[in-house]
Amino acid sequence: KQSVEDTLLTTIRTIPDYPKPGILFRDITTLLGNARAFRRAVDELVHPYAGSKIDKIAGIEARGFILGGAIAHQLSAGFVPIRKKGKLPHDTVRVAYSLEYGVDEMEMHRDAVSPGEKVILVDDLIATGGTAEGAVKLLRQMGADIVAACFVIDLPDLGGRKKLEALDVDVRTLVA
Ligand code: PRP
Ligand code: HPA
Repeated sequence: KQSVEDTLLTTIRTIPDYPKPGILFRDITTLLGNARAFRRAVDELVHPYAGSKIDKIAGIEARGFILGGAIAHQLSAGFVPIRKKGKLPHDTVRVAYSLEYGVDEMEMHRDAVSPGEKVILVDDLIATGGTAEGAVKLLRQMGADIVAACFVIDLPDLGGRKKLEALDVDVRTLVA
């Protein structure tokens, strides 16, 4: 049987020069389209938290929604979307952030998490960590207790994991 890492590595597709020249884009649509790989990725990410009480999964738009929804279901937790600005209809908290190929702003509904709730942050990939750092700020502003931040892919040369660990966030990734 293939290791989880091999299953994931062989199903992730790499696209050169997307979305900008010089970027090697790790495309997870091929992983998500493979039933076995998708299931293994979700199972592996939730494994350490099975049986612990997690109130909410916060997923980062867009690919964090796909993984986060599946993880929330597995852990019997609620789901909280963290979205690009202007997409959420009710009162929000907003933060500016920078990522590997640009700057943007993201938002979360003010009433999406309550103080003290245990939250796991989910996205497909951590690169510079700018996006995840923004999400951590929003969640902590609302009083969330961030149990962990989970990603399928780590791009270690870009330093995201270290950035989150410096904020005292427990980081879990499956492949580098
Ligand atoms: C990608 C990825 C992460 C982020 C990682 O999303 O899904 O959210 O970049 O980069 P960072 O660690 O350097 O911040 P992207 O901004 O491309 O948005 P999308 O999911 O809406 O396509
Ligand atoms: N894939 C997906 N999202 C990303 C990447 C990548 O290679 N780099 C930065 N964000």
